[in-house]
Amino acid sequence: MKVSVKTPATVANLGPGFDSFGLALPLYNVISVEETVLPGSGIEINIINEKNNEDSIIDIPTDKNNIVYKAIELLYNFIGQSPNELKITIKTQIPISRGLGSSASVIVGGLIAANELLGHPADEKVLLSIATEIEGHPDNITPAFVGGITMSSWEKDGSVVYNKLPWNDEWKLMVCVPDYELNTEISRSVLPKEVPMKDAIFNLKRAAMFVQALHTKDEELFKLALKDKLHQPYREKLVPGLAEITKNLKHTNGVIGTVLCGAGPSVLVIYNGIGVSEIKEIVANTWNFHNVNTNFFNLPIEKEGAVKII
Ligand code: HSE
Repeated sequence: MKVSVKTPATVANLGPGFDSFGLALPLYNVISVEETVLPGSGIEINIINEKNNEDSIIDIPTDKNNIVYKAIELLYNFIGQSPNELKITIKTQIPISRGLGSSASVIVGGLIAANELLGHPADEKVLLSIATEIEGHPDNITPAFVGGITMSSWEKDGSVVYNKLPWNDEWKLMVCVPDYELNTEISRSVLPKEVPMKDAIFNLKRAAMFVQALHTKDEELFKLALKDKLHQPYREKLVPGLAEITKNLKHTNGVIGTVLCGAGPSVLVIYNGIGVSEIKEIVANTWNFHNVNTNFFNLPIEKEGAVKII
Protein backbone atom coordinates (compact mmCIF):
# COMPACT_ATOMS: atom_id res chain seq x y z
CA MET A 1 0.00 0.00 0.00
CA LYS A 2 1.17 3.50 -0.81
CA VAL A 3 -0.06 6.82 0.59
CA SER A 4 0.84 10.23 -0.85
CA VAL A 5 0.26 13.50 0.93
CA LYS A 6 0.53 17.00 -0.51
CA THR A 7 1.70 19.65 1.98
CA PRO A 8 2.01 23.38 1.51
CA ALA A 9 4.89 25.80 1.93
CA THR A 10 4.69 28.10 4.93
CA VAL A 11 5.95 31.44 6.17
CA ALA A 12 6.75 31.57 9.87
CA ASN A 13 7.12 34.44 12.37
CA LEU A 14 5.28 37.03 10.23
CA GLY A 15 7.10 39.87 12.00
CA PRO A 16 6.30 39.91 15.72
CA GLY A 17 5.31 36.24 16.21
CA PHE A 18 8.76 34.63 16.42
CA ASP A 19 8.39 30.83 16.64
CA SER A 20 4.60 31.21 16.87
CA PHE A 21 2.79 32.80 13.90
CA GLY A 22 2.75 31.12 10.50
CA LEU A 23 0.75 30.90 7.30
CA ALA A 24 0.42 28.36 4.50
CA LEU A 25 1.07 29.08 0.81
CA PRO A 26 -0.11 27.19 -2.28
CA LEU A 27 3.34 25.77 -3.22
CA TYR A 28 3.59 22.08 -2.45
CA ASN A 29 5.75 19.09 -1.71
CA VAL A 30 4.38 15.58 -2.17
CA ILE A 31 5.53 12.87 0.22
CA SER A 32 4.75 9.23 -0.46
CA VAL A 33 5.23 6.41 2.01
CA GLU A 34 5.01 2.84 0.90
CA GLU A 35 5.40 -0.46 2.70
CA THR A 36 7.73 -2.52 0.58
CA VAL A 37 6.63 -6.09 0.15
CA LEU A 38 10.02 -7.74 0.22
CA PRO A 39 11.04 -8.49 3.80
CA GLY A 40 14.58 -7.29 4.53
CA SER A 41 14.53 -4.66 1.78
CA GLY A 42 15.04 -1.99 4.46
CA ILE A 43 14.49 1.72 4.18
CA GLU A 44 14.67 3.46 0.82
CA ILE A 45 14.44 7.24 0.58
CA ASN A 46 14.25 9.05 -2.76
CA ILE A 47 14.23 12.79 -3.26
CA ILE A 48 13.00 14.21 -6.54
CA ASN A 49 13.38 17.91 -7.19
CA GLU A 50 10.47 18.73 -9.49
CA LYS A 51 11.66 22.29 -10.00
CA ASN A 52 14.90 20.88 -11.34
CA ASN A 53 16.90 23.89 -10.20
CA GLU A 54 20.04 24.21 -8.15
CA ASP A 55 18.46 23.86 -4.72
CA SER A 56 20.79 21.81 -2.58
CA ILE A 57 18.70 18.68 -2.23
CA ILE A 58 22.05 16.97 -2.48
CA ASP A 59 22.58 17.97 1.18
CA ILE A 60 19.46 16.14 2.32
CA PRO A 61 20.31 12.76 3.82
CA THR A 62 18.67 9.71 2.28
CA ASP A 63 19.47 7.39 5.17
CA LYS A 64 18.07 7.10 8.69
CA ASN A 65 19.20 10.68 9.38
CA ASN A 66 16.52 11.95 7.03
CA ILE A 67 14.04 14.11 8.99
CA VAL A 68 11.02 12.44 7.38
CA TYR A 69 12.34 9.04 8.38
CA LYS A 70 13.06 10.29 11.91
CA ALA A 71 9.51 11.62 12.25
CA ILE A 72 8.03 8.35 10.94
CA GLU A 73 10.25 6.39 13.32
CA LEU A 74 8.84 8.39 16.27
CA LEU A 75 5.33 7.55 15.10
CA TYR A 76 6.18 3.84 14.93
CA ASN A 77 7.76 4.09 18.39
CA PHE A 78 4.53 5.68 19.63
CA ILE A 79 2.77 2.40 18.85
CA GLY A 80 5.63 0.30 20.18
CA GLN A 81 7.07 -0.66 16.77
CA SER A 82 10.01 0.27 14.52
CA PRO A 83 9.85 0.82 10.79
CA ASN A 84 11.52 -2.04 8.91
CA GLU A 85 10.61 -1.98 5.24
CA LEU A 86 9.61 1.43 3.97
CA LYS A 87 10.00 3.39 0.78
CA ILE A 88 9.75 7.16 1.22
CA THR A 89 9.59 9.43 -1.83
CA ILE A 90 9.84 13.19 -1.42
CA LYS A 91 8.92 15.29 -4.45
CA THR A 92 9.96 18.86 -3.77
CA GLN A 93 8.60 21.96 -5.42
CA ILE A 94 9.06 24.25 -2.44
CA PRO A 95 12.38 26.12 -2.66
CA ILE A 96 14.81 24.73 -0.07
CA SER A 97 16.50 26.81 2.66
CA ARG A 98 14.63 29.96 1.68
CA GLY A 99 12.44 30.37 4.79
CA LEU A 100 9.44 28.73 3.13
CA GLY A 101 8.99 25.79 5.47
CA SER A 102 10.24 23.06 3.15
CA SER A 103 11.39 20.88 6.07
CA ALA A 104 8.13 21.30 8.02
CA SER A 105 6.25 20.42 4.87
CA VAL A 106 8.03 17.09 4.35
CA ILE A 107 7.88 16.15 8.04
CA VAL A 108 4.13 16.77 8.18
CA GLY A 109 3.53 14.96 4.87
CA GLY A 110 5.59 11.93 5.91
CA LEU A 111 3.86 11.65 9.26
CA ILE A 112 0.34 11.90 7.85
CA ALA A 113 1.15 9.32 5.17
CA ALA A 114 2.71 6.89 7.67
CA ASN A 115 -0.19 7.37 10.07
CA GLU A 116 -2.58 6.46 7.26
CA LEU A 117 -0.52 3.34 6.42
CA LEU A 118 -0.64 2.28 10.06
CA GLY A 119 -4.42 2.68 10.27
CA HIS A 120 -4.55 6.05 12.10
CA PRO A 121 -3.02 5.18 15.49
CA ALA A 122 -2.25 8.86 16.14
CA ASP A 123 -4.62 11.82 16.20
CA GLU A 124 -3.81 15.37 15.11
CA LYS A 125 -2.51 16.27 18.57
CA VAL A 126 0.06 13.45 18.57
CA LEU A 127 1.14 14.11 14.99
CA LEU A 128 1.62 17.84 15.66
CA SER A 129 3.63 17.04 18.74
CA ILE A 130 5.92 14.53 16.93
CA ALA A 131 6.38 16.89 13.98
CA THR A 132 7.31 19.76 16.29
CA GLU A 133 9.74 17.60 18.23
CA ILE A 134 11.63 16.97 14.97
CA GLU A 135 11.39 20.55 13.68
CA GLY A 136 12.07 22.29 17.01
CA HIS A 137 9.29 24.88 16.73
CA PRO A 138 5.64 24.71 15.68
CA ASP A 139 5.29 27.91 13.61
CA ASN A 140 5.80 26.19 10.22
CA ILE A 141 4.49 22.79 11.29
CA THR A 142 0.99 23.96 12.26
CA PRO A 143 0.06 25.82 9.06
CA ALA A 144 1.64 23.04 6.93
CA PHE A 145 -0.73 20.68 8.73
CA VAL A 146 -3.95 22.68 9.02
CA GLY A 147 -3.50 25.50 6.48
CA GLY A 148 -4.50 29.14 6.89
CA ILE A 149 -2.82 31.55 9.27
CA THR A 150 -2.11 30.24 12.73
CA MET A 151 -0.61 31.04 16.11
CA SER A 152 0.93 28.07 17.88
CA SER A 153 2.79 27.33 21.04
CA TRP A 154 4.86 24.26 21.89
CA GLU A 155 4.02 23.54 25.52
CA LYS A 156 6.25 21.99 28.17
CA ASP A 157 4.40 18.64 27.98
CA GLY A 158 5.24 18.43 24.26
CA SER A 159 1.76 19.33 23.03
CA VAL A 160 1.08 22.06 20.49
CA VAL A 161 -1.64 24.55 21.29
CA TYR A 162 -2.80 26.38 18.19
CA ASN A 163 -5.56 28.55 16.80
CA LYS A 164 -6.41 29.48 13.24
CA LEU A 165 -6.74 33.23 12.77
CA PRO A 166 -9.03 34.97 10.28
CA TRP A 167 -7.51 36.58 7.18
CA ASN A 168 -8.69 39.62 5.24
CA ASP A 169 -8.73 38.49 1.59
CA GLU A 170 -8.18 42.09 0.50
CA TRP A 171 -4.64 41.81 1.84
CA LYS A 172 -2.35 40.25 -0.75
CA LEU A 173 0.93 38.40 -0.40
CA MET A 174 4.04 38.79 -2.49
CA VAL A 175 6.74 36.30 -1.68
CA CYS A 176 10.17 37.48 -2.82
CA VAL A 177 12.64 34.60 -3.04
CA PRO A 178 16.34 35.37 -3.53
CA ASP A 179 18.58 33.00 -5.47
CA TYR A 180 20.65 31.88 -2.48
CA GLU A 181 20.07 29.60 0.47
CA LEU A 182 20.27 30.37 4.17
CA ASN A 183 20.50 27.49 6.60
CA THR A 184 18.06 27.83 9.52
CA GLU A 185 20.67 26.74 12.05
CA ILE A 186 23.01 29.51 10.92
CA SER A 187 20.16 31.98 10.99
CA ARG A 188 19.24 30.95 14.56
CA SER A 189 22.89 31.07 15.65
CA VAL A 190 23.02 34.87 15.25
CA LEU A 191 20.15 35.38 17.71
CA PRO A 192 21.03 36.40 21.26
CA LYS A 193 20.25 34.10 24.19
CA GLU A 194 18.55 36.99 25.99
CA VAL A 195 16.87 40.15 24.72
CA PRO A 196 16.38 43.55 26.35
CA MET A 197 13.10 43.85 28.25
CA LYS A 198 12.06 46.83 26.08
CA ASP A 199 12.37 44.68 22.94
CA ALA A 200 10.32 41.89 24.51
CA ILE A 201 7.62 44.43 25.40
CA PHE A 202 7.77 45.86 21.85
CA ASN A 203 7.04 42.43 20.35
CA LEU A 204 4.44 41.55 22.97
CA LYS A 205 2.43 44.63 21.97
CA ARG A 206 2.88 43.94 18.25
CA ALA A 207 1.77 40.32 18.59
CA ALA A 208 -1.38 41.45 20.41
CA MET A 209 -2.03 44.07 17.71
CA PHE A 210 -1.47 41.43 15.02
CA VAL A 211 -4.20 39.13 16.34
CA GLN A 212 -6.60 42.01 16.95
CA ALA A 213 -5.96 43.50 13.48
CA LEU A 214 -6.75 40.15 11.85
CA HIS A 215 -9.99 39.86 13.79
CA THR A 216 -11.09 43.42 13.01
CA LYS A 217 -9.49 43.68 9.51
CA ASP A 218 -7.94 46.94 10.70
CA GLU A 219 -5.25 47.82 8.13
CA GLU A 220 -3.69 50.67 10.14
CA LEU A 221 -3.34 48.44 13.18
CA PHE A 222 -1.92 45.64 11.01
CA LYS A 223 0.70 48.07 9.65
CA LEU A 224 1.84 48.82 13.19
CA ALA A 225 1.73 45.15 14.12
CA LEU A 226 4.11 43.87 11.41
CA LYS A 227 7.24 44.94 13.22
CA ASP A 228 9.78 42.97 15.16
CA LYS A 229 12.75 43.45 17.44
CA LEU A 230 13.44 39.86 18.45
CA HIS A 231 14.93 38.27 15.33
CA GLN A 232 14.91 40.39 12.16
CA PRO A 233 17.41 43.04 13.35
CA TYR A 234 19.93 40.29 14.17
CA ARG A 235 19.39 38.52 10.86
CA GLU A 236 19.86 41.60 8.68
CA LYS A 237 23.56 40.83 8.34
CA LEU A 238 22.70 37.43 6.82
CA VAL A 239 20.22 38.93 4.36
CA PRO A 240 21.97 41.82 2.62
CA GLY A 241 19.38 44.30 1.37
CA LEU A 242 16.69 43.37 3.90
CA ALA A 243 16.97 46.66 5.81
CA GLU A 244 16.90 48.70 2.59
CA ILE A 245 13.95 46.77 1.17
CA THR A 246 11.97 47.27 4.39
CA LYS A 247 12.86 50.97 4.50
CA ASN A 248 12.14 51.60 0.82
CA LEU A 249 8.82 49.76 0.87
CA LYS A 250 7.65 51.56 4.01
CA HIS A 251 6.32 54.52 2.05
CA THR A 252 5.36 52.66 -1.12
CA ASN A 253 1.72 52.96 -2.07
CA GLY A 254 -0.24 49.86 -1.16
CA VAL A 255 2.35 48.27 1.14
CA ILE A 256 1.07 47.21 4.56
CA GLY A 257 4.25 45.59 5.79
CA THR A 258 7.44 43.72 4.92
CA VAL A 259 8.66 40.78 6.97
CA LEU A 260 11.39 38.17 6.76
CA CYS A 261 9.99 34.73 5.88
CA GLY A 262 10.86 32.48 8.82
CA ALA A 263 14.61 32.35 9.26
CA GLY A 264 15.06 33.96 5.81
CA PRO A 265 16.31 34.81 3.31
CA SER A 266 12.95 35.25 1.49
CA VAL A 267 10.89 38.32 2.20
CA LEU A 268 7.10 38.56 2.37
CA VAL A 269 5.43 41.79 1.35
CA ILE A 270 1.83 42.21 2.49
CA TYR A 271 0.03 44.82 0.43
CA ASN A 272 -3.49 45.92 -0.33
CA GLY A 273 -3.62 45.00 -4.01
CA ILE A 274 -2.00 48.06 -5.54
CA GLY A 275 1.60 48.90 -6.40
CA VAL A 276 2.66 45.42 -7.57
CA SER A 277 5.17 46.60 -10.17
CA GLU A 278 6.65 49.23 -7.87
CA ILE A 279 7.10 46.66 -5.08
CA LYS A 280 8.78 44.22 -7.47
CA GLU A 281 11.05 46.91 -8.83
CA ILE A 282 12.21 47.99 -5.36
CA VAL A 283 12.94 44.43 -4.22
CA ALA A 284 14.57 43.32 -7.49
CA ASN A 285 16.73 46.46 -7.76
CA THR A 286 17.85 46.32 -4.14
CA TRP A 287 18.84 42.68 -4.34
CA ASN A 288 20.35 43.21 -7.77
CA PHE A 289 22.68 45.74 -6.18
CA HIS A 290 23.82 42.89 -3.89
CA ASN A 291 24.20 40.56 -6.93
CA VAL A 292 21.09 38.62 -5.99
CA ASN A 293 18.31 37.68 -8.40
CA THR A 294 14.71 37.48 -7.21
CA ASN A 295 11.83 35.14 -7.96
CA PHE A 296 8.40 36.58 -7.17
CA PHE A 297 5.31 34.62 -6.20
CA ASN A 298 1.96 36.38 -5.88
CA LEU A 299 -0.04 33.91 -3.86
CA PRO A 300 -3.19 33.71 -1.76
CA ILE A 301 -3.17 32.00 1.62
CA GLU A 302 -3.56 28.23 1.30
CA LYS A 303 -6.53 27.41 3.49
CA GLU A 304 -6.61 23.59 3.60
CA GLY A 305 -3.15 22.45 4.71
CA ALA A 306 -1.93 18.90 4.17
CA VAL A 307 -4.13 16.68 2.00
CA LYS A 308 -3.92 12.98 1.20
CA ILE A 309 -3.90 12.61 -2.59
CA ILE A 310 -3.56 8.81 -2.94
N1 HSE B 1 10.75 30.53 13.78
C1 HSE B 1 11.84 29.90 13.10
C2 HSE B 1 13.00 30.87 13.02
C3 HSE B 1 11.41 29.51 11.74
O1 HSE B 1 12.75 32.04 12.75
O2 HSE B 1 14.14 30.47 13.23
C4 HSE B 1 12.45 28.81 10.98
O3 HSE B 1 12.13 27.50 10.77
